[in-house]
Amino acid sequence: MRALVQNRYGSPDVLRVDDVPTPVPGHVEVLVRVKAASVNARDWHVMRGEPRLARLLDSSTFGRAAPRVRIRGTDLAGTVESVGDGVTRWRPGDNVFGESAAAIAEYVAAPEGVVATMPACLTFEQAAAIPLAANTALVCLRAGQVEAGQSVLINGASGGVGTFAVQLAKSTGVAQVTAVCSARNAELVRSLGADVVVDYGREDFCESGRQYDLVLDLVGNRALRDLRRVLKPSKTIVLSGGGVSGQGRFIGPLGLMIRAQLVARVSRLRLVIPEAKPSTQNLAELAALVESGSITPIVDKTFAFENATEAIRYLEVEHARAKVVIAFS
Ligand SMILES: NC(=O)c1ccc[n+]([C@@H]2O[C@H](COP(=O)([O-])OP(=O)(O)OC[C@H]3O[C@@H](n4cnc5c(N)ncnc54)[C@H](OP(=O)(O)O)[C@@H]3O)[C@@H](O)[C@H]2O)c1
Repeated sequence: MRALVQNRYGSPDVLRVDDVPTPVPGHVEVLVRVKAASVNARDWHVMRGEPRLARLLDSSTFGRAAPRVRIRGTDLAGTVESVGDGVTRWRPGDNVFGESAAAIAEYVAAPEGVVATMPACLTFEQAAAIPLAANTALVCLRAGQVEAGQSVLINGASGGVGTFAVQLAKSTGVAQVTAVCSARNAELVRSLGADVVVDYGREDFCESGRQYDLVLDLVGNRALRDLRRVLKPSKTIVLSGGGVSGQGRFIGPLGLMIRAQLVARVSRLRLVIPEAKPSTQNLAELAALVESGSITPIVDKTFAFENATEAIRYLEVEHARAKVVIAFS
């Protein structure tokens, strides 16, 4: 089979569509024939091995000279081709979507508990846009214990995670969602339900004087004291930002996260840095929200698998709107 492979860290130029062995599903794994994949900020972080500090802290993802898993990608939608002996939930022919390593490939062997039935109303391309980004948004909002009637500020609202976070916040009855993004994406986030949009190129949201019940930071380029300034007393900050391309190559937002954890120990700061683990249950919940019309995946651009390298380049440096998808013919 063919897959998007890298053998050393670097720019998208290190990526190649290459022949690799087709995976064999393990006891509780399903082999999925991938129809569509999507790319995430995670792909360019892992591709570059940045921030560098992550190479020391996360040895299960980062090797010395190249990522541990050489095939990029995490999100997929496709059809189950075969299943391991211990799989009870899935059968060949099922259309599924989910999160698994090495997803930008013609076939993926995924644990049975990280895929779910694809919403029937979506194309494979739309379904592949959901898993990692929407699950992260769901987990972040749950962790922030956001309630109906409250106010939320989302920094990075126009990205993959942010566009789901805006919709999920509105669907839980949040009274006021303030979305921070660039001017070119303002209309999009407004159309998804944002009540207030702040163009970070013109206005510094940390200087606005307004305060929120929850601050969800999906960028990671602001100081903790700036984020705390816009937080109501005893309310919550959720940090999930991985940083901006070209900035903070060595430490990046890990500095913010480490500092915030230290401050939270000695102050009344309520801080959450969630780990968004994939699960069939969360994916099924998201599928139900799609089917009820509460959330919808937004696809900016779709690239053919042969041009998968360009998909990652586009996401990293072109300020993609929401999701970038790769289609397999
Ligand atoms: N902890 C986890 O489990 C987890 C999981 C998924 C993602 N993440 C992290 O969450 C972040 C968001 O992921 P994503 O997939 O949504 O990324 P994305 O699609 O690349 O979105 C990036 C967002 O950041 C904004 N942005 C870019 N440059 C900026 C700047 N200089 N100043 C302010 N905002 C800027 C973009 O706005 P414009 O395009 O409008 O400029 C966009 O809203 C990433 O950093 C990722 O690493 C963490």
